Amino acid sequence: MREKIVAGNWKMNTTIREGKKLTEDILRGIESVPAGITLVVAPPFTHLSSVSGILKDRNTPGLAAQNCASADKGAFTGEVSAAMLASVPCQYVILGHSERREYYGETSEILLEKIQRALENGLRPIFCVGEVLEERESDMHFQVVSSQLREVLFRLDPDDFKKVIVAYEPVWAIGTGKTATSEQAQEMHAFIRAFLAESFGDLAESTPILYGGSCKPSNAAELFARPDVDGGLIGGASLKADDFLAIAGSFA
Ligand code: 13P
Repeated sequence: MREKIVAGNWKMNTTIREGKKLTEDILRGIESVPAGITLVVAPPFTHLSSVSGILKDRNTPGLAAQNCASADKGAFTGEVSAAMLASVPCQYVILGHSERREYYGETSEILLEKIQRALENGLRPIFCVGEVLEERESDMHFQVVSSQLREVLFRLDPDDFKKVIVAYEPVWAIGTGKTATSEQAQEMHAFIRAFLAESFGDLAESTPILYGGSCKPSNAAELFARPDVDGGLIGGASLKADDFLAIAGSFA
């Protein structure tokens, strides 16, 4: 059976104190999460050590960073390397989020570098893809998503590809309250899996493909019931422990 994952992307929210409280609140309710679901939290860089300290000696939630540098180390003021993240320790890193692509000009070329640094340091990338509204309306969404996958993931060795988690996040659904229907999500997730199989064969059957974009307790169950939706990458609703836990409890 494929791994089921619910990951909370806190984005640029919470102070360290608030982040620690959120982590503690999640841990308090963690018994409600069905066995076999992997929970992951992705706080801002500044909180990783504190949150890691709270998670110490627990198997879950796993810890993710929201980005890493494309370079190994050196004179790159303000950057955070994959080795630094691994030393926290983080186990995951979100890469290719649409906000990074749009506001910080992250191209496929840069993302390939980042994903390689992550893999070299033992981090599992959560690689995000997704189309903007105009692309969906002009029926370009499959083409956009396949290019995003081809330009980065197809360059990886199968052994590295096995560690990748994909997140489909239609940009028009992020933070807008407008969720993709479960049919739209299933259609794209099945397309992504079939496309990945063109390069990686059967390995694509085991790739977790998460849905992201206004996922909340009221719609998670319907999305997660679809055969190719293996969980969620949650933004706004991951900032409330109860909502995040309720989403994680939405698998049938
Ligand atoms: P929202 O859940 O706030 O729409 O954000 C989704 C997202 O971007 C997760 O990475």
